[in-house]
Amino acid sequence: RKRVAILISGGGSNMLRLVEDMTDADHPAVPVLVLSNDANAAGLARAASLGIPTAVVDHRAFADRPAFEAGLQAQLQQAAPDIVALAGFMRILTAPFTEQWAGRMLNIHPSLLPKYRGLHTHARALEAGDDEAGCSVHEVTADLDGGPILGQARVPILPDDTADTLAARVLVQEHRLYPAVLRRFACGDRRRLDLSPDGNLS
Ligand code: GAR
Repeated sequence: RKRVAILISGGGSNMLRLVEDMTDADHPAVPVLVLSNDANAAGLARAASLGIPTAVVDHRAFADRPAFEAGLQAQLQQAAPDIVALAGFMRILTAPFTEQWAGRMLNIHPSLLPKYRGLHTHARALEAGDDEAGCSVHEVTADLDGGPILGQARVPILPDDTADTLAARVLVQEHRLYPAVLRRFACGDRRRLDLSPDGNLS
């Protein structure tokens, strides 16, 4: 089975969904490490309680981004993952780091890329008057949120939506999309996967 390291910064709900999916004996991958840049990330304790090895590489303990990334790389090399899955990992990664994992690193982003790379995606979709939003799983390259798209799921934007209500609706889809894409990716299948709002193939 392919070895998967998951990088988080917060609650880790996407990480938990990936881990839960990988408990299936037929799954092509297995979680070998959950790594956070923040020792207080709630997802760390959740992963540990499921028996998954965890590690912290605190970006504030390093002089600069390359030094932080060397710390990340050292932890990753110990765990020897085949695939690195970013799941709410809120640090920008430089080209030398992403190139080490080219074709092996995934990210989930809460927008319908190429729209709204970066932060505050839901507020920006509302501000633009969009009638739909969603999430994307993509390969990570040095181009922030710009790597090849592996899958998307869409949701309607409703008249009374706030950034928070929209984020919650998108997160439900993130929890469906990311495990589905990871399964395919772990089998070497990079064809794009599009999910309809009910979670079915569209
Ligand atoms: C998710 O909505 C994810 O798409 C987003 O952060 C949230 C993490 O939630 N990621 C980004 O914004 C990446 N720039 P989680 O910790 O519960 O999975």
